[in-house]
Amino acid sequence: MRKKIVAGNWKMNNDLAETEMFLVDLKKQVFPENVVVMIAPSFTNLNQAFESLREHPVTVVAQNMNQNNEGAFTGEISAKMLKSIGVNTVILGHSERRAYFMEDSAILAEKVNTALENEMTAIFCIGEELEDRKKGNHFKLIKKQLFEGLFHLSNESWKNIIIAYEPVWAIGTGETASPEQAQEMHNFIRKTIAENYSKAIADEVSILYGGSVKPDNASEIFGQDDVDGGLIGGASLKVDSFMKIVNSF
Ligand code: PGA
Repeated sequence: MRKKIVAGNWKMNNDLAETEMFLVDLKKQVFPENVVVMIAPSFTNLNQAFESLREHPVTVVAQNMNQNNEGAFTGEISAKMLKSIGVNTVILGHSERRAYFMEDSAILAEKVNTALENEMTAIFCIGEELEDRKKGNHFKLIKKQLFEGLFHLSNESWKNIIIAYEPVWAIGTGETASPEQAQEMHNFIRKTIAENYSKAIADEVSILYGGSVKPDNASEIFGQDDVDGGLIGGASLKVDSFMKIVNSF
């Protein structure tokens, strides 16, 4: 059965002291057994977070990594570096990476390959801009992102893929896709995987929704058949609101 997942994407927030405070508070919480909880701190705090949560069910995740295994890439972080501190999961293709850091589909497909070669799990983000939705191009665009980023993978690889559908117009804007819009797109993503791989593979992939998920809208969104959880930005920065979302299934 596919997993229910709530992952906090901290983006470029929380320094070391703030991360430590969050961790102290997080470790006091009681977690539901049926939900996989993840947090993605900045690179500088990953080691700290991993060590602090070593005996704890929360998974520590990286927000990005380079597609190359090593070499002259000043400022970059490799899969091997992440794995050496115990981090086995990475967010790839977030719309902010695509928009501000020129990460195109070719680079992202390479990053996915590198993650899988290094036996990591990738949370692969896809999502349309407002313009695409207004023009009615959103299904076409999501299909394109799936084909270019993931559909070269073998059947076997899919067990290490989590998809995050994040409509760009809903990220950090306070505007959420309605539960019906989320379900419609998640169902489309699952059907597209079934058509190109198999129903069995499609049924096993967790598809998370992201974009202004908050404590007061999470349960309605998570209640949709094809929504398996969320990738949470702003509301993951405080333990209180994050835990309310974790407990929204
Ligand atoms: P948000 O961000 O929850 O602040 O909209 C979600 C994301 O970008 O992953």
